[in-house]
Formats: sequence, structure tokens, C-alpha cells
Amino acid sequence: MKFLQFSVLPFLMVILSVSGANLTHHPHRDFLRCLSLRIENSCTITYTHNNPSYPSVLNASIQNTRFSTPTTPKPYAIITPRKTSDVQSTIFCSKNYGFQLRIRSGGHDVEGVSYVSQVPFVVLDLVNFRDVKVDTKNEVAWVQSGATTGELYYGIAAKTQTLGFPAGICHTIGIGGHLSGGGFGILGRKYGLAADHIIDAKMVDANGRVLHRKSMGEDLFWAIRGGGGNTFGVVLAWKIKLVPVPPVVTVFTVNKNLEQNATKIFHRWQQIAHKLPNDLFTTVWVMKVNSSQVGKKTVQASFKGLFLGRIDELIPLIQYAFPELGLARENCTQMSWVQSVLYFGALPIEPVEILLNRSALPRLSLKAKTDYIREPMSEAGFEGFMNMFLEEGTDLAITMMEAFGGKMNEIRENEIPFPHRSGILFESVYIVQWINEEDAGLCINWMRRLYNYMSSYASKSLREAYYNYKDLDLGINNVNGYTSYEQASVWGLKYFKNNFKRLVRVKTMIDPTNFFSNEQSIPPLLSP
Ligand code: FDA
Repeated sequence: MKFLQFSVLPFLMVILSVSGANLTHHPHRDFLRCLSLRIENSCTITYTHNNPSYPSVLNASIQNTRFSTPTTPKPYAIITPRKTSDVQSTIFCSKNYGFQLRIRSGGHDVEGVSYVSQVPFVVLDLVNFRDVKVDTKNEVAWVQSGATTGELYYGIAAKTQTLGFPAGICHTIGIGGHLSGGGFGILGRKYGLAADHIIDAKMVDANGRVLHRKSMGEDLFWAIRGGGGNTFGVVLAWKIKLVPVPPVVTVFTVNKNLEQNATKIFHRWQQIAHKLPNDLFTTVWVMKVNSSQVGKKTVQASFKGLFLGRIDELIPLIQYAFPELGLARENCTQMSWVQSVLYFGALPIEPVEILLNRSALPRLSLKAKTDYIREPMSEAGFEGFMNMFLEEGTDLAITMMEAFGGKMNEIRENEIPFPHRSGILFESVYIVQWINEEDAGLCINWMRRLYNYMSSYASKSLREAYYNYKDLDLGINNVNGYTSYEQASVWGLKYFKNNFKRLVRVKTMIDPTNFFSNEQSIPPLLSP
């Protein structure tokens, strides 16, 4: 045996390579050969490093520039399928040649997991799967995963002013990631999440099977509505139920800074915002701003709202329920629902075609975290929170406190995987951004300190978090090898509470070999 190993093998290799056989495994080349044999559609393009368009295709939807540095691991190939069979082929070839598959729809993943991995990987980019078909008669739509929320909103508004969809406020978010993680926005108190309104879906599983609601079964259909993307398969399209909106809605903004009693007004806001009528959504955005004293900074709490009605109804409602805000007519503007999406996105409300522009927003580096607040913060506690925005590293920091209650209270915790429902006063989304890479450490450290500070006020027994703003600080799956249920529970329970167990069961059933995986995907149980 020894003799064979050391003396004969080199000769054998020479003979085999001369005769065309190959003992060396080339997963990259084999993967591409596999794809070229299986993908007949010439419009589906595979970009590799050799292709001049590779950098622009990769960067096209990267929203977080923290993950587009020269040292960020890059995919071996980016596949932009146009047909379902191309998606099946990509799964088949990735599986057979040992590449991890990352699925990308809108590229907004705040931890970059749709286009970064620590193991050899390829990206399946659904940029060409972006049809939006709105059926106003039945108040439903089929929307493909690669469409943005803006394209969906625009598609609805192009047909009717009296239907809308309750999803996030940023119009460049991809439907694929957003719906598979929940989706909370300005219609959330009235109607719940985007994922609460999914009535059918089309997906491809790890075995290449094309499944719809009926064929996938209710367990899997439950899991994909909020249980996380890149865990159960590639969801190509979603059938959603649209919701009624009035032709005219009212938006408002009232800014109060530290010197203008912002803490007192906030203290009142957190006690009543979740109890206001469902037609009224309010949110408080905290950020550092210039003070009226030249050269000084202060912290502002911006009280914003959407009312599904007219100004004349809104003013008396606020004067009765929340007089401390001092809402005046000049703070309010009437507009259509679709314009209100742009208003909350801090964009001009006309022309609404901006909803179709995927590059309308500046791209910066960012880190995000979330909390669910169940007990009101003390006034001093909130003041301390605001003061933290005067520290270094906060020039582009923002916290969005979004009132819950209303419909969110009525939906059972296990209706879909998103469990943060009854009893929550508000969801707190902390975001810190920076432009220069050298500021990353300062900004991320500040964010971690802010999060620590909030530990006294966040949900106590279990610190809940929102999966759609992934936070890898909470823990990650092992890069190589098996991740146990206990290990994944550390973050899984925060995102999904008791629904985590059912998600693990569904994952074990549909993808036992864990082909679809990422840093915080649901791990399957080991087979006995
Ligand atoms: P991306 O393509 O990066 O995918 C995100 C995750 O889903 C990845 O794990 C990916 O692999 C997986 N995935 C994507 N497509 C899939 C598919 N077709 N099938 C299976 N898995 C798929 N949230 C919110 O609720 N309300 C809001 O208002 C906002 N606003 C907001 C603004 C900005 C600027 C950012 C960066 C993020 C938000 N979010 C948000 C969070 C957002 O909902 C979340 O990041 C979504 O996952 C983004 O979906 P994309 O398709 O854009 O991301």
C-alpha cells in the first residue's frame, strides 16, 4: 500500500492526465459546466470574476456598504435566472459541487447575508423576477420576490387609490426578504404585517421541487411567512391580500428637541400610542440635530403619524387623546396613501414614479439592532437615551420607535412565525450609519452601548428581536458543521419565541441536510 502511495501514484497521475482523465477536483469549473449543461435560457446570465459586469451586478443592490469592501468575501458566481427551471438548475449544481447558495431579492439584509458568506458560495439574484400583477376585483396581487415594495406600491396605486398593502416604508426593500421575515410599516396598527397577508406562494425547495400552498402543506406555508429567508427554499412569488385605504390620508410631523420638552412628550406618547384608534399610526424618530445655539448640537424626537382619514378628524382626535403633542393644522398634510409611503421614506411625494427607482436612496455602512418595549420607560431613562445621541459616532444614528397595538395585538403569537404581538407598546429599531470605514468601530461600539443601556427597558424575561433587522451579535450558526438546537435557540428564541421549535421541525422535514443555510438560518435536528 505504502509502495503504491509513494511510488506508483505520481506515474498514475501522469498517465491519467495525459489520457484526459483528471484526478484533481475543480468545483468551480464543474459548477459552471453543470450550469451550462442545464440552463438553456440564454437570458439567464452567470457572472463570474472574469466577467467585466461582475462588480456592478454584485453591487447593484448592496444597501449596506459595510459589506462591499475589498476584503468582503465575494461569491464565486452570481446567477440571475429568468425561469423557474434556472432556479432549479442553480440549486442542483450548487448542491452537487459544494457551493453554499445565497438568495438575494432586494439586497437590504442588514448583515449582508444575502451576498456574503465565509464558505465558498454563489448568489442567486432574483432581480429578473419582479412582476407585479394586481387584481383589484378580487383585491389580491401576485408579486415576484425580486420586485421592491416600491414597485408593488406603485403597481397597486396605478390601478386604484383605495387599496394598499401593509409593508415597510423604505421603497427599495425586496419583497423576497421582507415578506419572508415579517414586514412592518405604517399600516401595521390597522392591518398587521405584510406576512399576515400572504395567501399563497410559489417556491423551489432543496430538491428542486416547485411548490405552491397546496403542495407544500400548511406547516411549510406557515414557516415561510416570517420564519426567515434562505432557510426553507427559494420563494419566487407571493400571492397577497390587499387592504382598503381611503383615497385621502393625513400625515404629520412635530419635532421636539431636548430643550422643548421632548422627554415629557415622549413619556406620554409611549403610554397612549398603542391605544389610539387603529386608523392612527405614530412613530418617534430620535436623532442628533443642530441646536438653535450656533455650533451646538441637540437631540430631536420627531413625532410622526399617518391617519387613515382627513385633517378635520385627526386634529380633534389628537387634541383629545394626546394634547401634549400640540399638533397644529400646519403640521399636517393630506395626500394619497401611496404618497404617504414616500413621505415616511423622507422623499418628495411627487412624482410617485420615484417608487420605481431602486437607487433613489443613499447607500451607507450601517449596523442595526431592535427591541420590543412592553413597559413604559421612565422620563429620566428616556432622557439618558436621548443624551447618548450627543456622544461621538452618532452623526448618522437614528432610532425609530414604532407604536404597536391595534391589529398587532389581535393576531395570535403563533399565527405566523413573527411572535411580537400582544402587549407591546412599541418596536424600537436602532440604526447607526457611517461613511468612512475608519469610523466603523466607533459607531458599532456606540450602538452596542446603546443596546446595553436599553436592556433595563426592553422585554425582560426574553429580550425579543426582529428577524428582519438581523443582528449577528446575538449569535450565529457554526460556519462548518452542525449547529445544535440549544445553540441556535440563543438567537432563535429572541426572534421567534415559542415558534422557533416549530420552525426547527419544519426545517428538519423540508431541508434535513441544511442546504439552505446562513449565519442565522433555522438549523435542522440531527436525524436519530
Ligand atoms: P435581501 O435580498 O438581502 O434578503 C434578505 C434575506 O432574505 C436574506 O437572508 C436572503 O437570503 C433572504 N431572501 C431574499 N429573497 C429570498 C427569497 N426569494 N426566498 C428566500 N429567501 C430570500 N423592515 C421592516 O419590516 N420595515 C421597514 O420599514 C424596513 N425598512 C428598512 C429600510 C432599510 C434601508 C433597510 C436596509 C432595511 C429595512 N427593513 C425594514 C428590513 C428589511 O425588511 C429586511 O432587511 C429584508 O430582509 C430585506 O429584504 P430584501 O429582499 O431587500 O433583502
